[in-house]
Amino acid sequence: MKNVLVTGGAGYIGSKITTDLINKNYNVVVVDDLRTGYKKLINKRAIFYKKNIYFRNQLKKIIIKNKINIIIHCAASIDVVESETFKKKYYDNNVRNTENLLKSIDGTSVKYFIFSSTCAVYGGSNKYVTEKSKLKPENYYGKTKHLAELLIKKYSKKLKFKYVLLRYFNVAGSDIVNKIGCIRNTNSLFKNLSLSIKNKIFKINIYGNDYKTIDGTCIRDFIHLNDISKLHLLSIMKLIKSGKSNIYNCGYGKGFSVSQVIKAFEKEVKNKFKINILKRRKGDIPVLYANNSKIKKELNFKIPSNSLEKIIKSSIIWEQRYNKNET
Ligand SMILES: NC(=O)c1ccc[n+]([C@@H]2O[C@H](COP(=O)([O-])OP(=O)(O)OC[C@H]3O[C@@H](n4cnc5c(N)ncnc54)[C@H](O)[C@@H]3O)[C@@H](O)[C@H]2O)c1
Repeated sequence: MKNVLVTGGAGYIGSKITTDLINKNYNVVVVDDLRTGYKKLINKRAIFYKKNIYFRNQLKKIIIKNKINIIIHCAASIDVVESETFKKKYYDNNVRNTENLLKSIDGTSVKYFIFSSTCAVYGGSNKYVTEKSKLKPENYYGKTKHLAELLIKKYSKKLKFKYVLLRYFNVAGSDIVNKIGCIRNTNSLFKNLSLSIKNKIFKINIYGNDYKTIDGTCIRDFIHLNDISKLHLLSIMKLIKSGKSNIYNCGYGKGFSVSQVIKAFEKEVKNKFKINILKRRKGDIPVLYANNSKIKKELNFKIPSNSLEKIIKSSIIWEQRYNKNET
């Protein structure tokens, strides 16, 4: 059980998972069409196919040729704001292409499927969500991810594979050791703050400061890129050992507001940001953080201390030292 296919392995999160798997002696095949990913992020020891996961028959050939047992499905379109305008693009890539991938498993040696899901499947009716909380996505991106989850459950029965749905909260930070970080995502608060520091602009936009929260700005549960990747490795081990499908919230269980994050960056760089208040963005949820009892109990995941500081430091270092692409 060491042959893994990572879809979206040239992206921010998929490239980190690929590297961690390779460092643990897994054989990794990456399928990515580089629409938002970067070839330079793909670990040199992975086998890379530049392909759209839309092409089911080609996927099947890749799976059979490389004797894949485990699929980690990261490939998706991920911009919440864009998803509200370009619904078809999001449905096609996140729902239909997930179904293509699932269909390509039929008649192969794939036994396990790990899915990059999101806290956006919960919506905003609950603030502190468990894996059993009601699913009521409020933005279109969240809806497509929920539909993909349902397809995975359906095909798991039909094709007899086991799955883990990992509902990531807000992923941020960089892997400085392996030089992996966020190259492109312009909707990421950490990315924009780090970029603004690098370019010595010290300006940031806040989308809405009239939410019913401690300081009027949205509250999120931010998890370090390194920990998101670690949760995939822990999930694979648990899945193989237990043989049971599962769902896990991947967050630290603590929320920080947008204003608190900005203040923490200011403290780190000893400089003030000029703040520009804009109107709320469609699809943004006011408060959402994870009940993470399950990852602590079942995956023995340890919540790190000073997590926000660690995320901030690694984001700034990545932007200043390693990210040569301007966005
Ligand atoms: N970044 C976050 O905070 C976050 C939070 C929750 C969930 N997620 C999920 O994690 C996954 C990875 O996100 P990311 O932040 O690394 O995004 P990303 O855009 O950096 O990575 C996505 C990768 O998938 C590839 N891709 C997309 N559609 C494809 C297709 N049809 N065929 C082949 N390749 C395709 C892209 O080229 C890119 O390399 C996504 O599924 C996303 O929904 C991310």
